[in-house]
Amino acid sequence: MPSTFSAPKVSAWRMALMNASPDRADELAKRIAKQGPLLQNRLNRTYSEGDQVEALTEQLLAAAVDIGLKRSQELWDLDLSRQSKPDWHQQGAVGYTAYVDHFAGNLRGVVDRIDYLKSLGVTYLHLLPFFKAAEGPNDGGFAVANFEVVEPRLGTQADLQQLTQALRTAGISLCSDFVLNHVAHDHEWAVEARKGNPEFQNFFCMAHSQAEVDAWEKNLPQIFPDTAPGNFTYQPSLKAWVWTTFYPYQWDLNYANPKVFLEVVSAMMRVANMGVEAFRLDSTAFLWKREGTNCQNQPEVHWLLQAMRAVMEIACPGVLLKAEAIMPTHQLPPYFGLGDTPGPECHLAYHSSMMAASWVALAEENVSILQAVMQNTPAVPEGSSWLTYVRCHDDIGWNVLRPEAQALGDANHQRLLKASHFFAGIAPGSYAQGASFQTTDLLTAHGTNGMTSALVGMSTAQTSIDLQLAVDRLILLQSLSFFTGGLPLLYMGDELGMGNTAAEVLESRQGPDGRELHRPDWQEALAQLRTQEGTVQHRIFSKLQAFAELRKSLPAFQGDVSVQAIESKQPTVLALQRGTELKGFFNFSRQKVDQLGDDGLAITLKPYGFVWLQTCVGTPARTLID
Ligand code: GLC
Repeated sequence: MPSTFSAPKVSAWRMALMNASPDRADELAKRIAKQGPLLQNRLNRTYSEGDQVEALTEQLLAAAVDIGLKRSQELWDLDLSRQSKPDWHQQGAVGYTAYVDHFAGNLRGVVDRIDYLKSLGVTYLHLLPFFKAAEGPNDGGFAVANFEVVEPRLGTQADLQQLTQALRTAGISLCSDFVLNHVAHDHEWAVEARKGNPEFQNFFCMAHSQAEVDAWEKNLPQIFPDTAPGNFTYQPSLKAWVWTTFYPYQWDLNYANPKVFLEVVSAMMRVANMGVEAFRLDSTAFLWKREGTNCQNQPEVHWLLQAMRAVMEIACPGVLLKAEAIMPTHQLPPYFGLGDTPGPECHLAYHSSMMAASWVALAEENVSILQAVMQNTPAVPEGSSWLTYVRCHDDIGWNVLRPEAQALGDANHQRLLKASHFFAGIAPGSYAQGASFQTTDLLTAHGTNGMTSALVGMSTAQTSIDLQLAVDRLILLQSLSFFTGGLPLLYMGDELGMGNTAAEVLESRQGPDGRELHRPDWQEALAQLRTQEGTVQHRIFSKLQAFAELRKSLPAFQGDVSVQAIESKQPTVLALQRGTELKGFFNFSRQKVDQLGDDGLAITLKPYGFVWLQTCVGTPARTLID
């Protein structure tokens, strides 16, 4: 239950420090001296200055000190070592993401897969939501009924602690989702609200008349237009419409109420003390609602994330924050604290435009949109990294590319529509076997589902040449992600060319969500093939291992080294420069190309071929991998 919300008479955190061991007390006091003013400043910007902010600051500091003091010695030491080496996560990072149940049954099963992950060079494991989910449909766990209790289907608190420990020993950081924007309709806050408790009603965003709903809806896009249209759900017991951006059972939290921020950040810190080393901040863009806007990426979102970062820097500075903001390219840099809302914010952010644009490039055999995305991507601040990826548990959302498509003269986004038809396998000549998501209307592009292998044509290949080309496409996309990213993230199964979820499995899954198409169960038989030369699995797996090795060995692959699009003489080839010494060329066409490098370099790329080159002044360019 939330704590009371008035400024305490005697500062609780000062009292706690007075009673603590001197080494922890000194260190925490130092961190507060550094972060405290920033924290207060960001809260002042978000909430009206005065007593309220003072009380909130006090309570956040008290919570942070409490967490810092309760941190296990191992985690406390880890924090100290990471503080002295803030770029600890910057070199050779490789990520892997999976649902616990599909990957390994439960949390204990994940322990048994650690050697496998290590062999792939993984340093960062994002397990999709594993805390207690809503009864019934729960959006793959993203409707969270309790932030701190492990979902019983997946294990216990002890299992979680054992897993984090085992991963840490193996040099792998565990990333947990933290769903900031909403809670499940059966979370205790929602239950209390429904019972009529005004304190908890104020935890949620609500509209009190149809007119109010209509006024908001005028400016709001829809995330699930087919299966969950609109952004509000009428609750008879409340005689009000609850704001539900995603599914009706996911209730948007009201961050204009400072108690919500206090409770959410406090819960996050408690989870950090379970050994979680990174948080995926789910749906970050939606936290602040402002009339007359689309209620995405508002300045307060960034002030709140910066306040969150400041609190975490006090309590658990070894923990990373990752923004999940599936937004157009120009909206992403603020999540690193760049732009009009400057300040230390997230360490990592998904580059969803780059991901989607690489798929468009494949469909069109033309890199113009991808190139524009790269041109619009600024260098990240020191110590931060782009998270790059080919696929994840969500659909490929096409609309993030609207600004680039429009700037290239495609006013009605026909190129995006065509790409979505291509990957749904309904365009002539398509090799893909995906499916459109949330688009009963064939004239709009929304999203596309399907595993990488199905989208690149592995499942439709008729001949060995077809299959080889399909695998080449898969490797091309991964090579781009590994070349460009600070943290390239693999989605479970892609390292083995795993196909779509089987039809009979799909039928048994609860809740009609098209994204289940790319949420297959682990296939051990495929995993076994990865060590057998001549198999597709071996080809893909060993290539990924080689990428991971290179990323570890070359400083130019530090996460914050800038990547820029350089001139490409071919419309099918993306040319990139990473730092001063690396160049990458990526051919998105089924034709071989002779691409002349800008310095007289003669490069030939096979169909869907690529090359990473090391180009040091005064020495001939060296091929690192192709
Ligand atoms: C994020 C998740 C997605 C989920 C949504 C709502 O976008 O990746 O799977 O549906 O948030 O929580």
